[in-house]
Amino acid sequence: MSGFDFSKRDSFGSRLGVIMAAAGSAVGLGNIWRFPYILGENGGGAFLIVYLIIIFSIGIPVMMSELVIGRRTQRNPVGAFRMLSSRRPWYLVGMMGIVAAFMILAFYTAVAGWTLEYIYQILAGGIKGRSSAELTVMFDTFRTDSLRPALWFSVFLLATAGIVLGGVRKGIEKSTKVLMPLLFILLIFMCIKALTLPGAGKGVEFLFRPDFSKITGTTVLMALGQAFFSLSIGMGTLITYGSYIPKDNNLAGTAVQVSMIDLLIAVLAGLAIFPAVFAFGISPASGEALTFIVLPGIFQQMTGGMIFAFIFFFLLAIAALTSTISVLEVIVAYFSEQLNLSRRTAIIIATASMFILGIAASLSWGVMKGVTLFGLNIFDLFNYTTANILLPIGGLLIVAFLGWFFPGKSVRDELSNDGSLKIRYYSLYRFIIRFIAPVAIALVFLNGLGLLAF
Ligand code: PHE
Repeated sequence: MSGFDFSKRDSFGSRLGVIMAAAGSAVGLGNIWRFPYILGENGGGAFLIVYLIIIFSIGIPVMMSELVIGRRTQRNPVGAFRMLSSRRPWYLVGMMGIVAAFMILAFYTAVAGWTLEYIYQILAGGIKGRSSAELTVMFDTFRTDSLRPALWFSVFLLATAGIVLGGVRKGIEKSTKVLMPLLFILLIFMCIKALTLPGAGKGVEFLFRPDFSKITGTTVLMALGQAFFSLSIGMGTLITYGSYIPKDNNLAGTAVQVSMIDLLIAVLAGLAIFPAVFAFGISPASGEALTFIVLPGIFQQMTGGMIFAFIFFFLLAIAALTSTISVLEVIVAYFSEQLNLSRRTAIIIATASMFILGIAASLSWGVMKGVTLFGLNIFDLFNYTTANILLPIGGLLIVAFLGWFFPGKSVRDELSNDGSLKIRYYSLYRFIIRFIAPVAIALVFLNGLGLLAF
């Protein structure tokens, strides 16, 4: 079908490299920007409990399944499904992933661009000494500007394209090994600072004390969407990365480790943000602006705060970059392998089309404000539909495929590396992907959208 020479495919170099690349994809704005504001809008502690249950019962099994499909076939998501099921249209699941990748990259890179604006503002002295009210105004003024968000979006997209062009192993695999641990340390530091602010206790309570009356169908759907988004699952990112993973890697172990790192970073972000939210008297339901108002506020309270602020936004930009490259990689792998284009041409086409989509998304509060669907602007539409609709449906179809339409023995072989690893929870995993995950996703989904009420 495609004349692509598959023997020339790239691969990850080491076990640590695999973890760092996959964790690099998972950890990003989803943890530090999206998780806190979604939790803030959906009831706090109760949301966290639902989120935890979903990560363990659905997230990890879906991640394992993607890695299995990827490493088994060594193909991009569309090619992988074509290879495993040549007669049925399962490749459409891969196609849906490509569509989701375009939409995610558009709004996600826009937010990544916001981090660059903040780095610029810190250096230009625009943040120092501002009150939280002033920081709110600053954020809104920036977001409604008709040029700046698009400009920073473009810079970030070009950086992403540059790295994907340079190859993943030498660029990202190497740099993330140093930068991710650094982000972790700085985040801990910020938690300590936030927790010692006067009035911090309320924030901790908001995050950890569940009020179960707050759980509704929508809350559960938002938690499901956030889990898929944060773990980078449901659209083939981990099929693609899985296809570069060496045959001796323990896929189940990798999935568990990556998920735990991702969860930890999200909780730490919550611990850095909510105490400050309450200490500064900001509403936890401030939406997309939350992180960008609260974090600069914490830095104001520190000695040498602007230096830390600079380091932090720099690391956040890096964390976003290790995620954007994983999304672009999905599209590029698809273009180059299925359409038999050179990597270079694939990158140019993907990036050029992303410019149009992403500039539109980045100006969603500015000149594109009038363009809405179901009351959502382009940015919110992409953000909402990918996380809450496309990724869960993708995840459902991925597990259903492995659970019902693919020989169990092959799945077992892939997870146990042909019997050389002992896998302890195989029957549990199989039960989950056949019954629990598909049914749970379907119910949460229908209920959350109000199509089924219980
Ligand atoms: N998981 C990334 C984050 O939390 C975002 C992402 C979603 C990356 C989907 C790849 C695919 O920031």
